[in-house]
Amino acid sequence: MTKQRIAIGNDHGGYEYKLELVKVIESLGYLPVDVGSNGRESTDYPDFAEKVGQMVSSGEVDMGILICGTGIGMSIAANKIKGVRAALCWNPRAATLAREHNNANVLCLGARLIPMDECIKITKTFLTTPASKEERHIRRVNKIKMIEERNKICGSKNQKQA
Ligand code: RB5
Repeated sequence: MTKQRIAIGNDHGGYEYKLELVKVIESLGYLPVDVGSNGRESTDYPDFAEKVGQMVSSGEVDMGILICGTGIGMSIAANKIKGVRAALCWNPRAATLAREHNNANVLCLGARLIPMDECIKITKTFLTTPASKEERHIRRVNKIKMIEERNKICGSKNQKQA
Protein backbone atom coordinates (compact mmCIF):
# COMPACT_ATOMS: atom_id res chain seq x y z
CA MET A 1 0.00 0.00 0.00
CA THR A 2 1.36 3.44 -0.87
CA LYS A 3 2.00 5.72 2.05
CA GLN A 4 -0.06 8.84 2.53
CA ARG A 5 2.00 11.93 1.72
CA ILE A 6 2.11 14.88 4.10
CA ALA A 7 3.60 18.15 2.84
CA ILE A 8 5.32 20.22 5.51
CA GLY A 9 6.59 23.79 5.27
CA ASN A 10 7.90 26.43 7.62
CA ASP A 11 9.57 29.79 7.87
CA HIS A 12 12.50 30.56 10.20
CA GLY A 13 10.12 30.67 13.17
CA GLY A 14 9.05 27.08 12.56
CA TYR A 15 12.29 25.44 11.49
CA GLU A 16 13.15 23.59 14.74
CA TYR A 17 9.56 22.38 15.10
CA LYS A 18 9.54 21.12 11.52
CA LEU A 19 12.55 18.92 12.21
CA GLU A 20 10.66 17.23 15.04
CA LEU A 21 7.33 17.00 13.22
CA VAL A 22 8.94 15.28 10.22
CA LYS A 23 9.89 12.48 12.64
CA VAL A 24 6.32 12.39 13.97
CA ILE A 25 4.94 12.08 10.43
CA GLU A 26 7.32 9.19 9.73
CA SER A 27 6.50 7.48 13.04
CA LEU A 28 2.82 7.44 12.03
CA GLY A 29 3.67 5.65 8.78
CA TYR A 30 3.23 8.62 6.45
CA LEU A 31 5.71 10.05 3.97
CA PRO A 32 6.80 13.64 4.74
CA VAL A 33 7.35 15.95 1.77
CA ASP A 34 9.47 18.80 3.10
CA VAL A 35 9.21 22.01 1.05
CA GLY A 36 11.49 24.05 3.34
CA SER A 37 12.70 26.39 4.55
CA ASN A 38 15.76 24.54 5.71
CA GLY A 39 17.55 26.87 8.04
CA ARG A 40 17.22 29.62 10.59
CA GLU A 41 17.74 32.50 8.17
CA SER A 42 14.79 34.85 7.77
CA THR A 43 12.27 33.74 5.14
CA ASP A 44 8.77 34.76 4.06
CA TYR A 45 6.01 32.47 5.30
CA PRO A 46 3.66 33.02 2.29
CA ASP A 47 6.21 31.31 0.00
CA PHE A 48 5.92 28.06 1.94
CA ALA A 49 2.19 28.35 2.56
CA GLU A 50 1.68 28.60 -1.20
CA LYS A 51 3.85 25.55 -1.93
CA VAL A 52 2.09 23.34 0.60
CA GLY A 53 -1.34 24.72 -0.32
CA GLN A 54 -0.82 23.99 -4.01
CA MET A 55 0.30 20.44 -3.26
CA VAL A 56 -2.83 19.83 -1.18
CA SER A 57 -5.09 21.54 -3.70
CA SER A 58 -3.72 19.48 -6.61
CA GLY A 59 -3.91 16.19 -4.71
CA GLU A 60 -0.16 15.70 -4.91
CA VAL A 61 -0.24 15.17 -1.13
CA ASP A 62 -3.00 14.06 1.21
CA MET A 63 -2.58 16.78 3.84
CA GLY A 64 -0.26 19.61 4.81
CA ILE A 65 1.40 21.10 7.86
CA LEU A 66 2.64 24.69 8.08
CA ILE A 67 4.62 26.17 10.94
CA CYS A 68 5.54 29.80 11.53
CA GLY A 69 5.87 31.93 14.65
CA THR A 70 2.15 32.21 15.31
CA GLY A 71 0.61 29.99 12.63
CA ILE A 72 -1.55 32.98 11.70
CA GLY A 73 0.29 34.14 8.59
CA MET A 74 0.52 30.59 7.29
CA SER A 75 -3.20 30.01 7.76
CA ILE A 76 -4.18 33.29 6.10
CA ALA A 77 -1.95 32.59 3.10
CA ALA A 78 -2.82 28.90 2.66
CA ASN A 79 -6.55 29.61 2.79
CA LYS A 80 -6.23 31.74 -0.36
CA ILE A 81 -5.75 28.56 -2.38
CA LYS A 82 -8.78 26.77 -3.77
CA GLY A 83 -9.60 23.60 -1.92
CA VAL A 84 -7.41 24.38 1.06
CA ARG A 85 -9.01 24.35 4.48
CA ALA A 86 -6.17 25.42 6.74
CA ALA A 87 -6.82 25.32 10.47
CA LEU A 88 -4.75 27.05 13.13
CA CYS A 89 -4.85 24.65 16.06
CA TRP A 90 -3.65 25.40 19.58
CA ASN A 91 -4.44 22.13 21.35
CA PRO A 92 -5.42 18.54 20.45
CA ARG A 93 -9.14 19.25 20.96
CA ALA A 94 -8.99 22.01 18.33
CA ALA A 95 -7.23 19.55 16.01
CA THR A 96 -9.93 16.93 16.54
CA LEU A 97 -12.70 19.39 15.77
CA ALA A 98 -10.84 20.89 12.79
CA ARG A 99 -10.75 17.42 11.24
CA GLU A 100 -14.17 16.19 12.31
CA HIS A 101 -16.25 19.31 11.71
CA ASN A 102 -14.26 21.23 9.08
CA ASN A 103 -12.49 18.43 7.23
CA ALA A 104 -9.41 20.65 7.48
CA ASN A 105 -6.61 19.51 5.19
CA VAL A 106 -3.79 21.77 6.37
CA LEU A 107 -2.67 22.11 9.99
CA CYS A 108 -1.10 25.43 10.99
CA LEU A 109 1.00 25.73 14.12
CA GLY A 110 2.54 28.64 16.00
CA ALA A 111 5.99 27.65 17.21
CA ARG A 112 6.45 30.79 19.30
CA LEU A 113 3.19 30.26 21.14
CA ILE A 114 2.72 26.52 21.59
CA PRO A 115 5.27 24.22 23.29
CA MET A 116 6.87 21.53 21.14
CA ASP A 117 5.33 18.61 23.06
CA GLU A 118 1.86 20.09 22.59
CA CYS A 119 2.52 20.57 18.85
CA ILE A 120 3.49 16.91 18.61
CA LYS A 121 0.18 15.89 20.23
CA ILE A 122 -1.76 18.29 17.98
CA THR A 123 -0.05 16.88 14.89
CA LYS A 124 -0.71 13.26 15.85
CA THR A 125 -4.36 14.06 16.53
CA PHE A 126 -4.81 16.02 13.30
CA LEU A 127 -3.26 13.37 11.08
CA THR A 128 -5.17 10.44 12.59
CA THR A 129 -8.66 11.89 13.06
CA PRO A 130 -11.11 11.25 10.22
CA ALA A 131 -13.58 13.84 8.97
CA SER A 132 -17.11 13.35 10.25
CA LYS A 133 -19.55 11.67 7.88
CA GLU A 134 -22.49 13.42 9.54
CA GLU A 135 -24.68 15.21 7.05
CA ARG A 136 -24.56 18.59 8.80
CA HIS A 137 -20.77 18.73 8.70
CA ILE A 138 -20.61 17.62 5.06
CA ARG A 139 -23.24 20.24 4.21
CA ARG A 140 -21.26 23.01 5.91
CA VAL A 141 -17.97 22.08 4.25
CA ASN A 142 -19.81 22.03 0.91
CA LYS A 143 -21.00 25.56 1.69
CA ILE A 144 -17.37 26.62 2.11
CA LYS A 145 -16.66 25.18 -1.35
CA MET A 146 -19.62 27.14 -2.73
CA ILE A 147 -18.25 30.36 -1.22
CA GLU A 148 -15.01 29.69 -3.09
CA GLU A 149 -16.90 29.21 -6.37
CA ARG A 150 -19.11 32.28 -5.93
CA ASN A 151 -16.22 34.57 -5.06
CA LYS A 152 -13.65 33.62 -7.68
CA ILE A 153 -13.65 37.12 -9.13
CA CYS A 154 -15.02 38.89 -6.08
CA GLY A 155 -13.55 42.26 -5.22
CA SER A 156 -12.97 43.64 -8.70
CA LYS A 157 -15.82 46.18 -8.39
CA ASN A 158 -14.62 47.24 -4.93
CA GLN A 159 -10.98 47.67 -5.78
CA LYS A 160 -9.90 51.27 -6.15
CA GLN A 161 -7.67 52.14 -9.09
CA ALA A 162 -4.04 52.38 -7.98
C1 RB5 B 1 8.13 36.04 11.42
O1 RB5 B 1 8.78 36.97 12.21
C2 RB5 B 1 6.66 35.90 11.80
O2 RB5 B 1 5.98 37.04 11.43
C3 RB5 B 1 6.05 34.66 11.19
O3 RB5 B 1 6.74 33.53 11.62
C4 RB5 B 1 4.59 34.39 11.52
O4 RB5 B 1 4.37 34.44 12.90
C5 RB5 B 1 3.60 35.15 10.76
O5 RB5 B 1 2.39 35.00 10.91
